[in-house]
Amino acid sequence: MASITIRNLDDEVKELLRRLAAENNRSMEEQARVMIRAAVDGQIGSGRIDQIENTLRELTSMHSAATAVAAPAGKILPRGTLSGKRILLIIGGGIAAYKALDLIRRLRERGAAVRVVMTAAAQEFVTTLSVGALSADHVFTELFDRNDEHDVGHIRLSREADLLVVAPATADLMAKLANGHANDLASTVLLATDKPVLMAPAMNPKMWSHPATRRNRATLGKDGVTFVGPARGEMAESNEAGEGRMAEPLEIVAAVEALLDAGPKPLAGRRIIVTSGPTHEPIDPVRYIANRSSGKQGHAIAAALARLGADVRLVSGPVSIADPAGVRTIHVERAQEMRDAVEQLLPADAAVFVAAVADWRSENSAGEKIKKVAGEGPPVLRMVENPDILAGVGHHSQRPGLVVGFAAETQDLLRNAQAKLAKKGADLIVANDVSHESGIGPSGVMGGDRNRVRIVSKAGVEEWPEMTKDEVAARLATLIAERLKTIVV
Ligand SMILES: Cc1cc2nc3c(=O)[nH]c(=O)nc-3n(C[C@H](O)[C@H](O)[C@H](O)COP(=O)(O)O)c2cc1C
Repeated sequence: MASITIRNLDDEVKELLRRLAAENNRSMEEQARVMIRAAVDGQIGSGRIDQIENTLRELTSMHSAATAVAAPAGKILPRGTLSGKRILLIIGGGIAAYKALDLIRRLRERGAAVRVVMTAAAQEFVTTLSVGALSADHVFTELFDRNDEHDVGHIRLSREADLLVVAPATADLMAKLANGHANDLASTVLLATDKPVLMAPAMNPKMWSHPATRRNRATLGKDGVTFVGPARGEMAESNEAGEGRMAEPLEIVAAVEALLDAGPKPLAGRRIIVTSGPTHEPIDPVRYIANRSSGKQGHAIAAALARLGADVRLVSGPVSIADPAGVRTIHVERAQEMRDAVEQLLPADAAVFVAAVADWRSENSAGEKIKKVAGEGPPVLRMVENPDILAGVGHHSQRPGLVVGFAAETQDLLRNAQAKLAKKGADLIVANDVSHESGIGPSGVMGGDRNRVRIVSKAGVEEWPEMTKDEVAARLATLIAERLKTIVV
């Protein structure tokens, strides 16, 4: 265990530690170690639990402060998935900088210590005051800072973190790192680090699709930088829409968790295909038939499987959310393209079909935009059936060992799900009710963040309580890992 700096503790905490140490005939440092060990082993008695718990939190935060990036003396860090992790957040100068404030909160909520570097441009969008208040730490802005550089602070900053996160990552910051520039604190820290770097780009769609940015993105990918987003959607600064919107703070947090996750990897060595989102079936080059699937559940499942160590290939229809971190995503539009992409990914250990694939497409989709001609009436669409991707893979000669389908139904949920299980050659059907009362819109299953599912298999039906889509994803990933244990590679 690293050393604990007792003199940095609050007086009250020091006094408690002194008393306990005297009672037990130990040094204060030894007492602190014993308490941390007891807490880890779950041996703390109920009598002094609050006092001791606070002390332990204090000690834990001081331990982080003594060894790395952390909250200042007296700040109590909560426990969570990122407990004890040290994040160096670099905020670049874009409109999305305001989202970095929420990101700091979300990271700290999960127990991470967050230290922040802001570029000069970032300070035009959000103040160091807000950032400092949320991170509970000094905010670093200057490369040539007489207070911070006496011990080459930029190197220390870049090394004393477990992970560097750049959010928003501007076109400029990407260009600087891709080309090895180091002419301000942010770029110098990025170049000097030996830690993983996660970038959440945010910029105008034209800037994102510019060949120079594409080149820089590719170079950074080759250099080992991980990306989350950008997503498609409306830009904050204009009436433009397209790809370039920064991933939401919770998506960035999920990417951070995935990168720092040192948990068990029961799916290591397993290849899993996941489909997600809707499909768009063209009527003409500008019009299409779609459905309300947001891709949130499928993307969350892909991310959860990756967190358990699987090599995940996600085939996604058109969605406005970011590609999940740690997952290889293939973007398609139509059901036929989705089927082709899935077949090319076989063989696999498991396949999870979450996408809401259109059952039908227009057979006579037009090559040119259909014009409204006076007196001719509306066009008639002749519909033909799309390939059934789940059934195709469920009965394929290279069928994965485990095939999971989703059934979104508005009526007779269980009967339909059970029929689907047999007909499609699936091992599990995850059934959810998307009837109008409970299923559609921001608070419903399609489009919302929560889900209530039943797991239908030959063994019967298991009801899961309502939970977030991330929780459904985590639980399903664990179930898949359990099932795959019995299937030899
Ligand atoms: C109103 C406004 C909004 C901007 N938004 C972005 C943006 O979202 N993404 C981006 O890459 N650059 C954006 N820029 C340009 C950057 O601020 C500019 O390239 C700056 O030099 C970036 O500095 P930095 O990379 O050191 O933070 C914006 C500029 C202005 C004036």
